[in-house]
Amino acid sequence: MKKELHFSYETLKSISELNEVDRILAENAIETMDKAYAPYSKFKVGAALKLKTGEIIQGNNQENIAFPSGLCAERVALFYAGAKYPGVEIETLCIVAKGDLVPKSHILSPCGSCRQVMLESENRQKNPIRVILINQDGTVLIVNSAKDFLPFGFGL
Ligand code: THU
Repeated sequence: MKKELHFSYETLKSISELNEVDRILAENAIETMDKAYAPYSKFKVGAALKLKTGEIIQGNNQENIAFPSGLCAERVALFYAGAKYPGVEIETLCIVAKGDLVPKSHILSPCGSCRQVMLESENRQKNPIRVILINQDGTVLIVNSAKDFLPFGFGL
């Protein structure tokens, strides 16, 4: 039997096309990106997530001289939200990055480990997490659910 998976996403030319709520979230992601601790990769990532209560949680990548001990921005934000506000729904996650590690023309998309964590956060709350990606060329992608990033994710 042949089966197919599909998902759709929206693209914008710049964050100025976002509505006000999403634009504030994007500004939070940019603000925290600039505070990232990334002396080794020089690739700074910012993640901001909006909770159903309206509160915005920020996270950025935190590197370490023992490379695998560092953590991505997305997981810093998601784990902090889980630690401080367990059970509070996440509506939207916005991710932005800058640095030469990834060509400017490429889509800025979360790594596999962060996708797995995004997926579990979404499954726990039984409601989709919208994801806004801000690329280095300023264009924006909006995906309606974390599950679209990880078909056949482990265990879920
Ligand atoms: N990084 C993130 O923060 N998020 C991702 O989804 C991918 C990569 C960080 C990890 C490391 O500090 C730097 O970017 C280079 O990989």
